[in-house]
Amino acid sequence: MPRPPSSATLAELKAAVGPGGWLDCAGDVAPYLTDFRHLYQGATPLVLMPRSVDEVAKILALCDRDEVAVVPHGGNTSYCGGATPDESGSQIVVSMRRLNRVRHIDAANYSMIVEAGCTLAGAQAAAREADRLFPLSLGSEGTAQIGGNLSTNAGGTAVLRYGMMRDLVLGLEVVLADGRVLAALKSLRKDNTGYDVKSLFIGAEGTLGIITAASLKLFPLPADTATALVGIDSPRHALELLTRLRTAAGDQVTSFELMPRIAVEMTVKYVAGVANPLAFDSPWYLLIELSSPNPNQNLTGLLTSQLEDAAAAGTVKDAMLATSLAQAQAMWKLRESVPEAQRRHGASIKHDVSVPVSAIPVLIEKGTALANELAPEGDVVSYGHAGDGNLHFNLSQKPGADLELFAGRTHVLEHAMFDLVESLGGSISAEHGIGRLKAGEFARRADPVELRVMHELKRALDPKGILNPGKVLCAN
Ligand code: MLT
Ligand code: ZN
Repeated sequence: MPRPPSSATLAELKAAVGPGGWLDCAGDVAPYLTDFRHLYQGATPLVLMPRSVDEVAKILALCDRDEVAVVPHGGNTSYCGGATPDESGSQIVVSMRRLNRVRHIDAANYSMIVEAGCTLAGAQAAAREADRLFPLSLGSEGTAQIGGNLSTNAGGTAVLRYGMMRDLVLGLEVVLADGRVLAALKSLRKDNTGYDVKSLFIGAEGTLGIITAASLKLFPLPADTATALVGIDSPRHALELLTRLRTAAGDQVTSFELMPRIAVEMTVKYVAGVANPLAFDSPWYLLIELSSPNPNQNLTGLLTSQLEDAAAAGTVKDAMLATSLAQAQAMWKLRESVPEAQRRHGASIKHDVSVPVSAIPVLIEKGTALANELAPEGDVVSYGHAGDGNLHFNLSQKPGADLELFAGRTHVLEHAMFDLVESLGGSISAEHGIGRLKAGEFARRADPVELRVMHELKRALDPKGILNPGKVLCAN
């Protein structure tokens, strides 16, 4: 069991990172004590900001020796409280923000090595400078860091084409709980030498080690892109259109995002500079993007003809293709501002869930019925990455509804939603991780053998339980 650090340990930890490498005044540590959604308010005696893998190794060796708990901290955009210390005031925060170099880009190998504290936008920009694409794409990419993206196995808006963060990793450098450095930073597509140890740390939310750097896959930059905002009548039509597009365009279908009318209306209302460019209102909207590195694909022509055929078949009501980069960006702003609009509108209850793509219409139908019955003070705002089966099945407090009554529905509704998701063969956490928020529910619902293996791995890699305690796995 970790214990509070002594003043001697705190002094050694400060010395390990040197002057300018730590914070301990209440005002300075405050930003590290609450999560993005303000679900938790923690406390800490010390925030460390190492600048090298050696410094991270020294920190963990000291914390392991003295059994002090450590909470790794990236861009703090997590939705599940995974990077927030608990209320005890005994956990040390290790911010990765100064470990933020791009170490190497190998354009011919389509790979780059970046440190954990590099922002996702920074990594994308570095790849672009080398005429390459790093395809992970999320609304919070300006702030979210690569280490957090890896630790939560982040998804986002291009998973349909490029996969999750796990699919984009070639190698990792990780500091283990006792300070040893796992140097698995090779940039190989083929490497069948024993167990794939590095993959254990992806999605582990800092509970098995602290990722300090990663070798990431790069791709050719798109040279032709077609973006459309489409109005449809129902999620079933979304599925029909997705099938049609994948048949016609294969994996050039890069993004396929679904939004209900209420999400579009909220976004237009609350977020400056956002507009709905479509002439008619529709119950549902899709933001679709096709892309290819081949400049002569005529993707706009392809998407136009597919949408026309879909309209003739009754699948599509209304559509607009972006005719400029600015128009495409405006469509993306509409989609990416939905979480912000929900925040401004009022309280929300969120479920980040996934089901097989074919089950998205049933999830929405049955989930909406459950929500209307179990949380009548909320409006369903279910939107997200329909192309890969991930919906943010959220609710927003109805205008004028009682906040306490609405918030009080959270657990009963969550329970029913997770039962529904499981009955459809889905997951209770698609892309936001488990963190502290879902640790209990995960422990109740995980396959017992799989959960046991996870606890055994945790004990093997972190026998004193110092790494991010209380996240992902509940104490057993
Ligand atoms: C998104 O896709 O917009 C986010 O992952 C979900 C959210 O912010 O609720
Ligand atoms: Zn999302």
